[in-house]
Amino acid sequence: WRQGRDCELLLLSGALVLLRLAGGCPEKCRCHSSSHSVDCSRQGLAQVPSGLPPQTRTLHLQDNQLHQLPAFAFRSVPQLRILNLRNNSLSHLVPGVFHGLRHLEVLNLTQNSLHSLESRLFHSLPRLRELDLSSNNISHLPASLGRPWENLTVFAVQQNQLRQLDRALLESMPSVRLLLLKDNLWQCNCHLLSLKLWLEKFIYKGGVTDSVVCASPDTWKGEELLKIPHELYQPCPFPSPDVGSSRGQQLGSAHQPVSGPPESHSAGQRDPSECELKPKPRPANLRHAVATVVITSVVCGIVCLMMLAAAVYGCTYAAVTAQYQGGRLAQTNAPVKMEGKELYDSSPA
Ligand SMILES: *[C@@H]1O[C@H](CO)[C@@H](O)[C@H](O)[C@H]1NC(C)=O
Ligand SMILES: *[C@@H]1O[C@H](CO)[C@@H](O)[C@H](O)[C@H]1NC(C)=O
Ligand SMILES: *[C@@H]1O[C@H](CO)[C@@H](O)[C@H](O)[C@H]1NC(C)=O
Ligand SMILES: *[C@@H]1O[C@H](CO)[C@@H](O)[C@H](O)[C@H]1NC(C)=O
Repeated sequence: WRQGRDCELLLLSGALVLLRLAGGCPEKCRCHSSSHSVDCSRQGLAQVPSGLPPQTRTLHLQDNQLHQLPAFAFRSVPQLRILNLRNNSLSHLVPGVFHGLRHLEVLNLTQNSLHSLESRLFHSLPRLRELDLSSNNISHLPASLGRPWENLTVFAVQQNQLRQLDRALLESMPSVRLLLLKDNLWQCNCHLLSLKLWLEKFIYKGGVTDSVVCASPDTWKGEELLKIPHELYQPCPFPSPDVGSSRGQQLGSAHQPVSGPPESHSAGQRDPSECELKPKPRPANLRHAVATVVITSVVCGIVCLMMLAAAVYGCTYAAVTAQYQGGRLAQTNAPVKMEGKELYDSSPA
């Protein structure tokens, strides 16, 4: 009897060990199973710990020494909603690093050493709501980081080295409500005018942003982008031929002559078509479209009328001819009388 009891205890402890392994927690982390959150912060970690509970929803990895992350670094935690990588030493992110995080909503990458981000880096994060890239060393952002991010409401890039921001990037975030841009090296030349126009619309629609203070050129140093009147910007130089002839035509139809030399050549490092002329072709296009529709309808109408006239004329002519022939046939020879009558009967009056 006593032996049976011992055996039971042994089994019980074995089961407990197994349970702990199954719902295990990495050595340097604290796991809170009720909230599915795992805290591995301030542990001097150089890599993502293995053995994370697969149902983890919040993962704190801030204040560690992560220098790089491999592709699929978070494959073991596909349910992740919140990922905090603040205050690590990440200088580069490989393209597939966030693959598999289809549910991720909040990503904090502040206080790292990121210099640039690959286009489409966040493509695998369709549910992202908040992306914080503040306090890095980012000097350039691509025109596309994610697919249209319908749920992204917070986008922060304060304290970086940005000089320009592609309007297309902002347009890929139709729901953004909070946009933090302070403390960058904003270059307030013609290329930033499109950002200014975008921000004015954004604020008008209830969006919240902090200040975009110009770092260059000297004329606008220390001024706020939103307080500089449009009229004081030079138009952007005409795009080079390799940009594409269609855009060149659009710009041409926007009747904005190129006046004066380009203010600075360093601005040309990006697609020169990203200048303030971009939104203007729209009315021209619209006018084009309206004109095309009007002309098409007029031409169609004329053709229809002509066809109608031809049909009426044809029918009348056929009827008259038939009547005349029918009458003549009936008069002359009797054998074809029936045919002539049929012909006469079947033709419309
Ligand atoms: C960043 O993390 C380090 C440990 O890696 C810590 O000593 C430091 O206080 C953290 N900095 C901030 C601002 O939290
Ligand atoms: C990221 O972390 C910083 C520092 O703790 C915090 O101020 C910021 O609100 C966080 N961002 C998000 C999107 O949670
Ligand atoms: C955006 O959020 C809503 C509600 O949380 C969700 O139903 C929807 O699937 C999300 N959009 C995407 C692209 O995941
Ligand atoms: C940021 O980059 C510049 C050069 O691009 C470098 O001089 C500077 O030390 C970097 N700062 C940080 C915090 O990495």
